[in-house]
Amino acid sequence: MTEGPNPIALDIDSDKIAWLTLDQSDSRVNLLGSATMGFLDQRFSELESRIATGQPVAIVIRSGKPGTFIVGADVREFGEVSSAAEARARSHEGQRIFQRLSRLTVPTIAAIDGSCMGGGTELALACDWRIASDRSSTKIGLPEVKLGIIPAWGGCVRLPRLIGIQRALRMILRGDGSAASKAKRWGLADRVFPADGFEEHLRKFVVDIVLGQVERSPRAQSFRDRLLEGTGPGRTLLFNRARKEAVKTSGGHYPAPLEAIDVIEKSLDLSLDDALAVENEGLARMAETEASRNLVRLFLLGQAARRALPEDVLNDASETKRVAVLGAGIMGGGIAELVAAHDVPVVMKDIDQGSLDAGLHHASDLLRKAGDRGIFAAEEVGLKFALIHGSLEYDGFDDVDLVIEAVVERMPVKQQVLRECEEHLPAHAVFATNTSSLSVTELASASGRPAQVVGLHFFNPVHRMPLVEVVRADRSSDAALACAFRFVGDMGKTPVLVADRPGFLVNRLLGPYLNEAGYLLEQGAPVAEVDRVLTEFGMPMGPCRLLDEVGFDVAQHVAREMERAFGERMKPSAVVGLLTEDGRLGRKNGRGFYSYPKGRQAGVDREVGRLLAAKGSVSADDIRDRCLFLLVNEAVHALADEVVGTPGDVDLAMVMGTGFPPFRGGILQWADTIGAPRIRDRLLEFESAHGPRFAPAPGLKELADIDGSFTAA
Ligand SMILES: NC(=O)c1ccc[n+]([C@@H]2O[C@H](COP(=O)([O-])OP(=O)(O)OC[C@H]3O[C@@H](n4cnc5c(N)ncnc54)[C@H](O)[C@@H]3O)[C@@H](O)[C@H]2O)c1
Repeated sequence: MTEGPNPIALDIDSDKIAWLTLDQSDSRVNLLGSATMGFLDQRFSELESRIATGQPVAIVIRSGKPGTFIVGADVREFGEVSSAAEARARSHEGQRIFQRLSRLTVPTIAAIDGSCMGGGTELALACDWRIASDRSSTKIGLPEVKLGIIPAWGGCVRLPRLIGIQRALRMILRGDGSAASKAKRWGLADRVFPADGFEEHLRKFVVDIVLGQVERSPRAQSFRDRLLEGTGPGRTLLFNRARKEAVKTSGGHYPAPLEAIDVIEKSLDLSLDDALAVENEGLARMAETEASRNLVRLFLLGQAARRALPEDVLNDASETKRVAVLGAGIMGGGIAELVAAHDVPVVMKDIDQGSLDAGLHHASDLLRKAGDRGIFAAEEVGLKFALIHGSLEYDGFDDVDLVIEAVVERMPVKQQVLRECEEHLPAHAVFATNTSSLSVTELASASGRPAQVVGLHFFNPVHRMPLVEVVRADRSSDAALACAFRFVGDMGKTPVLVADRPGFLVNRLLGPYLNEAGYLLEQGAPVAEVDRVLTEFGMPMGPCRLLDEVGFDVAQHVAREMERAFGERMKPSAVVGLLTEDGRLGRKNGRGFYSYPKGRQAGVDREVGRLLAAKGSVSADDIRDRCLFLLVNEAVHALADEVVGTPGDVDLAMVMGTGFPPFRGGILQWADTIGAPRIRDRLLEFESAHGPRFAPAPGLKELADIDGSFTAA
């Protein structure tokens, strides 16, 4: 028997319709943890007995939380699963409860008004009908592969039977949520009703179902799809293609997508019970993989990072309803787009009409592309763009809650802008600078209210990079930081709280890593080889390609700042300077380590080898260890300097801010698989061969002496 207050209310109305309303009092969203699943089980058992006595005649499952349905299972509980047997038992229990739901003998309806993910979607799939609202937060998805597992409460089994193999594969392998309109087109939602008046539409619809007045439209399938999905050879083709694609996108490092494909293929023609058993075994296999443990840990670290401030302060942080962006450059335009995409009005100010126009154009382009990719409905693109107001003056600033400053990277300009801007702001507004290398504390010294000045360090390109470093300056108040935290979360990004130290966390760690790539080239390692070794390790791109993307001018500027702050160990190689002298800026001018004919990325530019004129060679092991062990070493230095609170913050920030391979769990989690003594010994070896930049950090030496763990520190 499940204990505690029941979060699922059961009401039977005068039409004999049962309304199951899920509303977990201790959480902002509904999660299907084991206690809630127990309550669901109880409710289903109660309903079975009642149905036997003639009522209810239909059952609706809905959420009591406006704008969100059920966001999934409770990942914290999954994080505690330590064996395949435990994973199997959990999956089995969920399958059993949803089978019970699917066997109720009256129509069951999932009323999806808001986000519906993972276990929430599997619950909806076990219902007879799925009704969605057209609210922009209504998204239906199965994101389990992102945690290294597969949907195993019936998702892999029921979804392809409902919407077809190809669409089910696409949903499960991508793990993204689908908007209501797409869910309807794909046959996942039976009806879409306006969010305004959703309840009335729903009620009427349910009554019609009971009266037998609703026809279910058959799934439309083209001749080609019937051939592919309904015949043996067609299916073999589909599954093999999916496998090839999954290996290509995952670099072979993530087993879950392949497992999901196997489970779907094996279970398609089996009875429901047998199919669920196949799914259950698939989950048990995945739960034991290192990739899954690492991905689940990163997910939980992301949640913990959001709680880096005192709970009461975070709870008090009010929603940001209007934003101002200063500077309409690469970052300003990107930030304005992000804010508008989340339906928040934003005024973007620049001092130059041409730059302002370019910034607005950039934002509009990004919105259009997001619409094309189905991130939101194409009709919404114009409405969202209308939320961005461009200006050369401070008009509209008297009404904003947050200003994000993204003007040129020069302290006197930023301080001047801050002073000017403050004259126009309401008393409560927070001023956040997007600086990547200047001191936020120094900037705040120009402010009349330094407690309200923080850093919000977005990464480029803003729409793609999930991390935002939230910088605490000496006098930043918790309340201002909490406002920034809430805003970052509302924008769908992950905030990590960092101290106001040079390079904050991510740029500081990248410093020695990128510099080392230059030293390797000087010693004769080919550009393609350096990049190959690190992409094979799992980095999304090699360091030379990354330098091309960042731009040599920006990279040199950051490198100089890092050297000024940290001295010898951040001294850059001469390579980037040499290439800059040759008129190369990286991708932005089509000339970097790589060539970019007609803007498209091609092979290594042959001229580069001639410019470097290096002789010699470096082994692949040395390339990998030199770059990555320097990253580990700098992470240990940064922790000693208290740039972030925990080793978990380092791992999270490196994955979210640089694309460090998530399946490896982060730089320090990976370092633990190598061991501190081995890393120290290699660093000492490199130090004697190549100089003091490899000197092991004091903390690393201590850890190596006791063979301690980087992540437990
Ligand atoms: N580009 C990146 O990769 C990146 C990444 C993270 C952070 N940042 C930081 O973001 C900030 C902006 O960088 P960017 O790359 O977008 O620069 P940018 O040069 O593309 O844009 C700067 C814009 O600010 C405008 N500007 C200058 N003075 C102004 C003023 N007084 N008021 C209003 N606008 C003014 C300029 O006209 C220009 O449009 C910098 O602090 C930079 O360090 C940049």
